[in-house]
Amino acid sequence: MIHVLFVCLGNICRSPLAEGIFKKLVEERKLEDKIRVDSAGTSGWHIGDLPDPRTEAIAGEHGISLDHLGRQLLREDLQKFDYIIAMDISNYEHIRILYGPEEDPEGQLFLMRDFDDTGKGKDVPDPYYGGDDGFEKVYEMLWRSCNNFLKFIVEKHNLG
Ligand code: 4NP
Repeated sequence: MIHVLFVCLGNICRSPLAEGIFKKLVEERKLEDKIRVDSAGTSGWHIGDLPDPRTEAIAGEHGISLDHLGRQLLREDLQKFDYIIAMDISNYEHIRILYGPEEDPEGQLFLMRDFDDTGKGKDVPDPYYGGDDGFEKVYEMLWRSCNNFLKFIVEKHNLG
């Protein structure tokens, strides 16, 4: 089983949406028995909360229902998950520090948009304080990135 964890700040906007998109792609390829998906926040601000209503709305518009409840990233997640995907550089650096200086996260820790051909290495911007159109842009970035990330995993682990 391959375990994938998407991480943002609050775990109510970007990472639960990434989780929902990725789960849908995994189901479409009938890989549910091989790939498990979860999400978490670097902060503990929204523990137990449903996704933001705007996140639910954009997911619904694209035929995705979200069932995640907010949780905070734990140090033990670094052992439990094969892939940890940070939404922006601030999340990435937070996670990098959680590893400690001796551990090398290469091959395990990535930025979501490392997998986006139209903006490699850029942040998935935090849509929380913006308008609704921010959520559609984030959805599109996540959809492109999740497709390429799944291709990467399928090739790397010969799941094709
Ligand atoms: P997320 O967005 O990191 O994509 O879930 C945010 C959600 C909540 C807050 C910040 C960002 N907040 O400040 O509560």
